[in-house]
Amino acid sequence: MKIVETVAEMQHLCRNLRTENAPLGLVPTMGALHAGHLSLVRRARSECASIAATIFVNPLQFGPNEDLAKYPRTFDEDCRQLADEGVSLLFAPTTAEMYPPGAATTISVTGIGDRLDGASRPGHFTGVATVVAKLFHIAHPHRAFFGQKDAAQLAVLRQMARDLNFDLEIIGCPIVRDADGLALSSRNKYLSPAERTEALALPRALRHIQQSIASGERQSDALIQQGMQELNRVKLDYLATVDAQTLLPVSTIQPGTLIAVAAWVGQTRLIDNFLVENLPSS
Ligand code: PAJ
Repeated sequence: MKIVETVAEMQHLCRNLRTENAPLGLVPTMGALHAGHLSLVRRARSECASIAATIFVNPLQFGPNEDLAKYPRTFDEDCRQLADEGVSLLFAPTTAEMYPPGAATTISVTGIGDRLDGASRPGHFTGVATVVAKLFHIAHPHRAFFGQKDAAQLAVLRQMARDLNFDLEIIGCPIVRDADGLALSSRNKYLSPAERTEALALPRALRHIQQSIASGERQSDALIQQGMQELNRVKLDYLATVDAQTLLPVSTIQPGTLIAVAAWVGQTRLIDNFLVENLPSS
């Protein structure tokens, strides 16, 4: 696996990798890789002739009181895992390479970018959209792979790609969970054993809601109330039923509704969700 730090070299190598009959797949990450990230790489490998991954802890998407400085960094281990998974090219730029002095352009996806995580993390999705747009321009992939785990991020990036006419396909990939149901996240590393147990309230609340939907409940208010029963020991940010594409609230569950939760467990902010794909007829 070739590791590249400069924009110019990455552009040059991607230009050579990208041919009409050999799609190039891009998997952007912030490192501290786990099986969730690797599932994106595997999906990319199943659909693309070559895969470029990126590792960049993007300062623009962290708020002033967030965990940028302590965000887990496991670069050598990440490289080993990516190479094992068949990634041919890794872009791992410095902050100065991505944001040279004088850089003045950001991308705000208005409306949708201020919903869910965008509401509680002001500017977060502007940071995400800006860095991902830059990565799209640098690598110019045919397909880019993102996790459904960050459902709001996926919706914002789809909107951005549509609005800015990026000539690529965004592929959403399923959430990978630990055996106990907790969605894998680089931030799970922050949790003490006791907090990790508390964190299971998130998938439990979602499962509770899922079961109620399966038994015929369709009203968001009732479902949210039921989910809340599982969440009394964590500091809730949001539990919401929204349209997966617009992130606007829905009052009645339908196919395409996203049930999303965010909460702090100790100092760690965790998110989880599930997408209602189809409804059993009731
Ligand atoms: P990061 O949190 O490193 O995640 C990189 C990708 O892995 C994202 O698309 C995320 O949704 C996906 N992912 C994380 N946990 C997952 C899980 N348990 N199952 C499936 N996919 C999972 O998301 C970011 O980085 C950044 O915002 C980024 C898009 C790289 C821009 O900086």
